[in-house]
Amino acid sequence: MKTREAWKSKLGIIMAVAGSAIGLGNFLRFPVQASQNGGGAFMIPYFISLLLLGLPLMWVEWTIGRFGGGFGHGTAPGVFHNMWTKNRFIKYFGIIGIFGPLVIFIYYTYIESWTFAYAFFSVAEKYSPATTQAGMVSFLKGFQGIEKNNFFSSMQCAYVFFLITFCLNMFVIYKGISGGIEKLCKIALPSLFVFGIILAVRALTLGTPDPAKPDWNIINGLGFLWNPDFSALKSAKVWLAAAGQIFFTLSVGIGVILTYASYLKKTDDVVLSGLTSASANEFAEVLLGSSIVIPVAFAFFGPIEAQAIAKGGAFNLSFITMPLIFQKINLGAFFGCIWFLLLFLAGITSSISLAQPSIAFLEDEFNISKKKAVIIFGAAAFILCQPAIFFLKNGVVNELDFWGGTFCLVLFATVEIVLFGWVFGIEKAWEEIHRGADMRVPKIYKFIIRYVTPLFLFLILGFWMYQEGISTILMKNVSQGDKPYILGTRLMLLGIFIALAILVKIAWGKRKTKVKK
Ligand code: ALA
Repeated sequence: MKTREAWKSKLGIIMAVAGSAIGLGNFLRFPVQASQNGGGAFMIPYFISLLLLGLPLMWVEWTIGRFGGGFGHGTAPGVFHNMWTKNRFIKYFGIIGIFGPLVIFIYYTYIESWTFAYAFFSVAEKYSPATTQAGMVSFLKGFQGIEKNNFFSSMQCAYVFFLITFCLNMFVIYKGISGGIEKLCKIALPSLFVFGIILAVRALTLGTPDPAKPDWNIINGLGFLWNPDFSALKSAKVWLAAAGQIFFTLSVGIGVILTYASYLKKTDDVVLSGLTSASANEFAEVLLGSSIVIPVAFAFFGPIEAQAIAKGGAFNLSFITMPLIFQKINLGAFFGCIWFLLLFLAGITSSISLAQPSIAFLEDEFNISKKKAVIIFGAAAFILCQPAIFFLKNGVVNELDFWGGTFCLVLFATVEIVLFGWVFGIEKAWEEIHRGADMRVPKIYKFIIRYVTPLFLFLILGFWMYQEGISTILMKNVSQGDKPYILGTRLMLLGIFIALAILVKIAWGKRKTKVKK
């Protein structure tokens, strides 16, 4: 077995996992979800999900990742195989832990490249001719190549920024676990916090931007986001949204924490490290994420517009509303630049983690060099990114996000937790969690991991099947014109999954032949 890479320091892996967790989800998705699902009342299902899903899954992924790393496996097929050696099929379930992050990677990198581009546009004051909502929409559509207009005549500019972002990702991954990922996260994460704090302070000291409208102020903006509507708690949708946000924001159920943890040593602590990275994420989400976009949008556009803006979703908020606001404040170019740089840093520290499972799979299971693994992954991922770029307007990104970024997370988490608490066995699991631990997990979590988390996950899957499953599968909410694109995307996803299954079969076939010899 060849020696695997390792993290240089404990702080390094905590930063890397926190970097993977802190992403666009913290600064855009969270405030939109909270304001749409009961405001302050949303925090009840949110914190319940954090305690019953997020934290246990975080500990489980850290633990099984470190366990698998001990056998030379950094991805779920190998890890699951070692957790249930008697079952020949379990490794195929592990494919979800490579497939999911790869699918997210192929659209996430493109969106990440927009944030990079907009950081430049802010400094160069390129979007300043667009002074209205409609103007900023045109700017974004022109940039994305959805329409030709005065701002952009083609999507060349977007493509150049995509190429730069893609190459940057490949460069960091090529540099390796400690030389690339750890180094980047150690710089990017503190910078991100500094930018976040500057922006939050600027937002909270905005006061009343328009004296003619005294009610449109930042305090009422915070109230708009946080005033609880307890009746929202009666709706299953709100609970599902909270659980979904916890998965997305903590990066659990994706497979990336498992891969990162596989580079730990057998006796490295996972309990405190897992808790620390989750806490850093919650600080960035609940304190910083909620202080910026929604309250600021309220202070500038008032309650009715703010409601419409929140309904318009995270992308509109980031690329339309925020640039408009930056044009209205002093030093707007500076604040605009740090806002988009913040998003870019949050994005790249997440996207490199999404690529790592594929790289680890190629290196570990096929015994090839890092260089070869990066070339193979780079070529495949580059081709797979193209539909998201060219057919954005046909709903391809949303489709990839649904299967890769939502459905697979819940499915993978369910497999992981059942395998850990039931097949591996809770007593052995408990011992494994605490190997080299700096603190003990409260005993109640033995019960939660075995019964509560799996039950919660089955309920989520069941509810989804009941409420939307069939209509999603039958593309009931897709327009006639977009159906061929969505079907094409699904065929592509099926192709990726089958290709990964064949690779797993080949890798294990090779191993058997070696053992026989
Ligand atoms: N956890 C990452 C985010 O919040 C994916 O964006």
